[in-house]
Amino acid sequence: MTEEDRRAPAAVVFDALGLQYERAFAASAPHRASLAWLLETLAPGSRVLDVGSGTGRPTAQTLADAGHRVLGIDVSPVMVGLAARRVPGAEFRLADIRVTPLAEASFDAVCAYFSLLQMSRAEQAAVVAKLARAVRPGGLVALATVPLDVEDAEGLFMGQPVRVTSFTAEAFDRLVTDAGLTVLSEERTVFTPDHPDAVPEPHLFLHARRGAG
Ligand SMILES: C[S@@+](CC[C@H](N)C(=O)[O-])C[C@H]1O[C@@H](n2cnc3c(N)ncnc32)[C@H](O)[C@@H]1O
Repeated sequence: MTEEDRRAPAAVVFDALGLQYERAFAASAPHRASLAWLLETLAPGSRVLDVGSGTGRPTAQTLADAGHRVLGIDVSPVMVGLAARRVPGAEFRLADIRVTPLAEASFDAVCAYFSLLQMSRAEQAAVVAKLARAVRPGGLVALATVPLDVEDAEGLFMGQPVRVTSFTAEAFDRLVTDAGLTVLSEERTVFTPDHPDAVPEPHLFLHARRGAG
């Protein structure tokens, strides 16, 4: 088995992309708006988990700069290395969220921006349910995905071969609600990453709270 085979498929893709990913998505206004919502809503010094923290920018950096205690986890060793060097105000760990235990109610907020797409549908549902339990009752969950009805679809993402699984926006909403979260707001948009091989992609940003309304 080669080194590549031993890594999770997401790690292979994002180890290859590294900083290119951050540059390509830097102009996303809904991502900035989602972070602004977290900053407006969180109490000072909140404990926040960033799942699939990538390069650490913009998410972990924005939250850490505002004084929140941020733990980023990512399955890509390259991404974890970049984030740790570039965002010293947050903590980053190499971990696969699918198999990482999280203590009940241990965070004030959890975010997962575009980090579910290399998981099966059952894994995505199990991860969202795990994140819902990891946030305290009344705590916040911010999610972003590419809302498409695809399962293990082969494609190219910024020149890298990928297999993508996702849900329609309506099915993703149901998955979030079934996890015990109340959807507070969502934004659907189309974004074209700043990369020569990129194509326009639908984006769904969703804000939720653990528990009823
Ligand atoms: C599309 S990038 C998004 C990065 C960052 N969240 C952002 O929006 O700028 C997805 C990130 O999730 C990570 N990821 C994918 N599957 C993961 C898993 N099972 N556990 C932890 N991280 C994962 C990837 O390595 C990658 O860094």
